[in-house]
Amino acid sequence: MGKKSASANKSKEKRQARKLEQRRIADGMNYVTSANKLTDISGLCKELLVYSNNELEVSMYIQRVTDLKKNVLEWAIDLTERNMKKLYETCAWGWNRERKVEEMMDDNAWYLIAKEKTGTLLAFSHFRFDMDFGHPVLYCYEVQVEAEGRRRGLGHQVLRVLEKLAHATRMRYVRLTALTHNPAAAAFFRACGYTLDETSPPKEEAAHYEILSKLTHEEEQGQSECQLSDCMKAVQVANTT
Ligand SMILES: CC(C)(COP(=O)(O)OP(=O)(O)OC[C@H]1O[C@@H](n2cnc3c(N)ncnc32)[C@H](O)[C@@H]1OP(=O)(O)O)[C@@H](O)C(=O)NCCC(=O)NCCS
Repeated sequence: MGKKSASANKSKEKRQARKLEQRRIADGMNYVTSANKLTDISGLCKELLVYSNNELEVSMYIQRVTDLKKNVLEWAIDLTERNMKKLYETCAWGWNRERKVEEMMDDNAWYLIAKEKTGTLLAFSHFRFDMDFGHPVLYCYEVQVEAEGRRRGLGHQVLRVLEKLAHATRMRYVRLTALTHNPAAAAFFRACGYTLDETSPPKEEAAHYEILSKLTHEEEQGQSECQLSDCMKAVQVANTT
């Protein structure tokens, strides 16, 4: 008797845990869908889009790839090639321009563009809102800074914007992939508070890349329908202000 009721309790607990997990994933997918529907995403992080440091006066804007001007997209592709080609060539990925361009032009791509007061383009990030290993994340595909704009806090400011967006849209992490033979990037991401993510390949695999992340939003297990729709409304309201 005692044994039977203990096992019945256990399976009830398991069913509840499974339900909560399904609910958590469904919530995550709703957040990703809502984030991808935003029409004025800049409204969520206005205060961070102006940055100045050491004679650098920078303003930033955010657009979907489909709204980006052709010359800006071409500059972003060119900067990525200048910054990353050699690094890709010296690992298993190799450099394939066509593949990179295809990735950068994916319909789900969002761009944060940083330009100097004079109009000179200085830095960008390609990022996406997505489900990754069962969690809603803001995935940072690229953060690239022109050589003359480096070591003045601009890269860090770009990450702050991404983190603010991730928090505001209820993405659990800002997550990214970094090449292990890019020590400058490793030092940069760690200085900005990024740590090895649980989805990173194990050290024994000696992979040429690692996954880093920063927690941006704690999940609330078993949220009610009401809380969920309040959140979606909040994102939409923020979007229209
Ligand atoms: C990595 C990169 C984005 C950093 O941008 P940045 O604007 O120069 O970085 P910041 O000035 O915000 O640096 C913030 C902190 O990160 C660390 N850091 C940045 N660059 C570093 C480097 N080359 N070596 C060691 N630490 C570094 C420092 O602690 C720095 O603070 P400090 O300057 O006060 O010491 C930039 O160097 C770049 O575009 N590199 C080429 C492309 C690339 O590797 N991108 C990342 C992978 S997608």
